[in-house]
Amino acid sequence: MREQSRVVFITRNIPEAGMRLLRSFDVRINSHDRQLNRRELFAGVKGADAVITQLVDKVDADFFAVNPNLKIVSNYAVGYDNIDIPLATKLGIPVTNTPGVLVETVADYAVALILTCARRIVEADRYIVSGKYKGWDPGLMIGMELKGKTVAIIGMGRIGFQTAKRLKNGFDMKIVYVDERINEEAERELGARRMPLDEALRTADIVSLHVPLLTSSRHLIGAKQLAMMKPTAILINTARGAVVDEEALAKALLKKKLFAAGIDVFEHESKIHPLLKRLPNAVVTPHIASATKEAREEMARLACQAVVDVFRGRQPDNIVNPEAWEKKRKGGGRL
Ligand code: GLV
Ligand code: GLV
Repeated sequence: MREQSRVVFITRNIPEAGMRLLRSFDVRINSHDRQLNRRELFAGVKGADAVITQLVDKVDADFFAVNPNLKIVSNYAVGYDNIDIPLATKLGIPVTNTPGVLVETVADYAVALILTCARRIVEADRYIVSGKYKGWDPGLMIGMELKGKTVAIIGMGRIGFQTAKRLKNGFDMKIVYVDERINEEAERELGARRMPLDEALRTADIVSLHVPLLTSSRHLIGAKQLAMMKPTAILINTARGAVVDEEALAKALLKKKLFAAGIDVFEHESKIHPLLKRLPNAVVTPHIASATKEAREEMARLACQAVVDVFRGRQPDNIVNPEAWEKKRKGGGRL
């Protein structure tokens, strides 16, 4: 098949750094400055050989039914909970993501949220902007110092590790972590101690979530777990909204069962629990933890390179379901 006739459908504009890799193909981009609805999404998918998706595009049975001959779904995100992976694998459609390149960016952001909550920065800004500041007050906006406090990293993957490293080396915090696997590097370099979730929640002054959304991590933090946390503790979520029971979190913040929460991801984006929008101890941001020029350009490069690789018959680097690739090769599938 001639390269020019290969169609790549991109569901949302992504940086030119990636797009330029696709110059020899027929690239079609969502021309609206918004997320596509299902009908628009399917119209684009229909005539495509490859699709570059956003984390809000649901890639499910209906999506694949529109075009079961897709050669790749390249997700412009590290998380891929928006995609039915078993089904893609069954259909022999490779799925790729963009790991690695946003690790530092997201870790920076987790630390930013921690400081924002601990030092009440958003609340303080609103205080001035709303005209309440009348002069120095020794009791104003008293927060929490990080030195010597304990952070629980839930999910000690690459992002969890970089977050812990910043907090250990920059702020002299103690690190505990929850993970199915031992992270030897974190234990050796950061003195991190692995423990069960309940114990970590009871121990920590700050809990930062870094797990992918899986069936097993859905509502990992619910009312029961929130009740285990110290009333002085801070919860940070830069992972996926549904890892936390948002309703339970809103209630815990309302009743001051927690000091604060810094939340970048929501259960039903872009809907946000109304309490989280008005409680002073809730800091909410619009899913921007990976939003730096550097990370987004690298993500675009990876997402587009994966498409090029598949078109040229090479297994892409960040394939989530290598079985799909095997299947295609063995079956002599049309690449
Ligand atoms: C962002 O949330 C991502 O998964 O890349
Ligand atoms: C993120 O890119 C990760 O692999 O943890």
